[in-house]
Amino acid sequence: MQTELSKKLGIEVPVFAFTHCRDVVVEVSKAGGIGVLGAVGFSVEQLREELDWIDAHIGDHIYGVDTAIPQKYEGMDKSTPEELVAMIEAAIPQRHRDFAEKLLRDAGVPEWPDEKDPVSLSFSVQQAQALVDEALTRPKCAMIVNALGTPPPEIVQQVHDAGRLIGALAGRLKHGIAHKEAGLDFVVCQGSEGGGHAGEVTSMVLWPQMVDAIAPLPVLAAGGIGNGRQMLAAMSMGAQGVWMGSRWLIATEAQAEPAQRESYKAANSEDTVRSRSFTGKTARMLKNEWTEAWEREDTPDALPMPLQGYLTFDAVRRTHRYAGVGDCQKIAFNPVGQVVGQMNTEQSCRDIMFQLLSEYAEALEQVNTVTTQE
Ligand SMILES: Cc1cc2nc3c(=O)[nH]c(=O)nc-3n(C[C@H](O)[C@H](O)[C@H](O)COP(=O)(O)O)c2cc1C
Repeated sequence: MQTELSKKLGIEVPVFAFTHCRDVVVEVSKAGGIGVLGAVGFSVEQLREELDWIDAHIGDHIYGVDTAIPQKYEGMDKSTPEELVAMIEAAIPQRHRDFAEKLLRDAGVPEWPDEKDPVSLSFSVQQAQALVDEALTRPKCAMIVNALGTPPPEIVQQVHDAGRLIGALAGRLKHGIAHKEAGLDFVVCQGSEGGGHAGEVTSMVLWPQMVDAIAPLPVLAAGGIGNGRQMLAAMSMGAQGVWMGSRWLIATEAQAEPAQRESYKAANSEDTVRSRSFTGKTARMLKNEWTEAWEREDTPDALPMPLQGYLTFDAVRRTHRYAGVGDCQKIAFNPVGQVVGQMNTEQSCRDIMFQLLSEYAEALEQVNTVTTQE
């Protein structure tokens, strides 16, 4: 199965896997799709380590790296990461720090063991530029994808000069149009049901509008794709491929503590919420006491990006590391889309890919049967 974009990249099937796990990147790329490593929150040293591993295990296949430079954020004018951190540190009220820490303490989540591990800067060009520089030193990194905004012109130019593709996520038409005007090579159009940062319009409504609005630029459909029937729906609306995030979270190769996997497996499609409580922008995740606590009248409001993400960096890493300790799952950061309700079994990435494509073929046959019936 090929589309113009998959041919350009030289991959066998137009399946794009967003993941934070290097093993998933490698396995999906080896199975004919392309793994894209989410690097937000990584230091350059961490990214270097992950990419060394991927380069050593992926063979002749290619992969992508995903960054997150928001269109607008507090401290955009700061020219260095150090200046931005100083601004953020000064701007986070003590009340917010105390509130986050109390939630962690009440749930019995242990402290991070190594005080020397710094809190890492996320969601800013100051962080992303260094990650892009590192990614582009890798010949097998075929594309850079940016979340939350149109990447700055210098980065678009830099990626093109390096002979790679650059795309960006969009949850609203106007964002997709801005990406096209900025000269990007494709747009990942994510509907509201998707995991992570998501807008209000659902995939079913948004995808075809985006395809028409930015034609002939390729659109990858994201948000709510977890099986072959959903993939066929996306392709039938003109998408040049599918971009899936949630489905890989319980792949056998994914790095996640058993308690976090169990939370995903036990959840149904009504158990997610769009909440600002972890990053400062609305992101879809499992509902729990943390997401509810930040909504109450008598509690602090989430801060704007990147302040809230900086404030909750410790909560995210502690709730992932100690996922099964105390009442950790009651406050853990478990981003996922509504497809969580159909994610019940742990399978390898290869099996997920195989099942996705066989279901796609069956669904296509089913549609053909219906359309050719007298
Ligand atoms: C755990 C998780 C974390 C995510 N983090 C990012 C991110 O850092 N950058 C990004 O571009 N997209 C991120 N996303 C969104 C995915 O790239 C993708 O668009 C989305 O998962 C698609 O919808 P689905 O969850 O229904 O598959 C994240 C999604 C999940 C589930």
